[in-house]
Amino acid sequence: MSGKLVVVSNRIPTDAAPSGGLVVAVHDALEQSGGLWVGAHPERGGPTDDGLTEIARDSYTRLAFHLSEEEYDNYYLGFSNSVLWPICHGRIDLVEIERCHEATYLAVNRRVARLLAQHIEDDDLVWIHDYHFLPLAQELRRLGVRARIGFFLHIPFPQLSALSTLPTPDDFARWLAAFDLVGLQTRRDTARCLEMFRADPRAEFMPDGTVKFHDRVLAVRSFPIGIEVDGFAAAARAQQDAADLGSDLGDRLVIGVDRLDYSKGLPNRFRAFGAFLGARAPEDPRASLLQIAPPTRERVAAYRAIRTELEEIAGRLNGEFATLDWTPIRYIHHAVERDLLAGLYRRSAACLVTSLADGMNLVAKEYVAAQDPDDPGVLILSRFAGAAEDMTDAILVNPYDITEMADAISTALAMPRDERRARHEACLAAVRDSDVAVWADRFVACLRACPPTLMVGG
Ligand code: G6P
Repeated sequence: MSGKLVVVSNRIPTDAAPSGGLVVAVHDALEQSGGLWVGAHPERGGPTDDGLTEIARDSYTRLAFHLSEEEYDNYYLGFSNSVLWPICHGRIDLVEIERCHEATYLAVNRRVARLLAQHIEDDDLVWIHDYHFLPLAQELRRLGVRARIGFFLHIPFPQLSALSTLPTPDDFARWLAAFDLVGLQTRRDTARCLEMFRADPRAEFMPDGTVKFHDRVLAVRSFPIGIEVDGFAAAARAQQDAADLGSDLGDRLVIGVDRLDYSKGLPNRFRAFGAFLGARAPEDPRASLLQIAPPTRERVAAYRAIRTELEEIAGRLNGEFATLDWTPIRYIHHAVERDLLAGLYRRSAACLVTSLADGMNLVAKEYVAAQDPDDPGVLILSRFAGAAEDMTDAILVNPYDITEMADAISTALAMPRDERRARHEACLAAVRDSDVAVWADRFVACLRACPPTLMVGG
């Protein structure tokens, strides 16, 4: 029998009853087993060294560490989002290397390890999320923590060549080797991770497929993340029945929902919609693109640049194609409440997910879950999103090929109902297979099954 579950993620929910698929799954797992959820305090400033601050206690406890303004700039905006994020998303041209980024990232991880170690018993299971905490297990091991520690990377595993962009490229494999289990989104990510270890003379492969690295052994597996399927489908149905969702949105609505991130392929998506509009005959029915793109990480230059680029393309296309009673592109630069979103998905004839790189992409899964199975819309999905590995019945597109995406929009809007139903059924089966509760249970069970940590590696 194991002890408690200890979860670490940079963002930590502050509401008593958190919402959102991943957060709900982790919350449920913690409610079942009891334990701790540790993350960055939503307000900056505050004592950084006095221990963790309790922000909620119920069947489990939420604790936060504080970040100073300078740490936020260097650990979060800097190393996490201006070095690791572009490296993992294949945009090494956007990497901003500053000595203070890396030094603060390591220092924050060291401090979090020190604050966390006091709360961990040998029989606990520690589950660390995402690229903000790659060195955390190594720091915990240095402090003598022997509990099983698992890591889940929500974003793509970097290509081997991109890792050379890190200030000290050899660190990446060593950081990962301090975990007992490394979980990745897809089989492609797992292959990339194993390729990194294969290329590393410090690593050795064991007959059972685990990796021996110095005195430690780790397992690498894929755990494709999903959504809370039934809850999301119910929210979509309720919205359809309850509300008249924007009657002036038109009949043929194409929807896109993404944080305004350069990895999401938004400029090419808009260009493809422009090419589709340019190819349409005057008598063809009108279609509109509704793009919801809330701001994110705006103090990073690459995010400001993508916003300007997108606004310019949207303005130009609307100038060219709009009429007095039709705006072809509606671009909303703020977040939309989850239930309303579910309803918007349900009334959209197609959804565009055109990421240039994406760990999984839960919008693709939410769109499918929200559809009326009898008269569903069509998912147009980038081959570069993790979701494409199992949702092969979507219309799969190359997000660099504008003509192919424009054709996909035409095909989706003209698709006969039988074909829409058959594709939707197959996509929904894939979404059900990765329901987020199953995802959390699988990861925790796999971590629990790892052999106990006998040696404490450096
Ligand atoms: C991705 C990452 C998450 C992150 C989220 C939002 O999904 O995998 O770790 O929380 O983006 O980004 P933000 O920087 O706003 O937390």
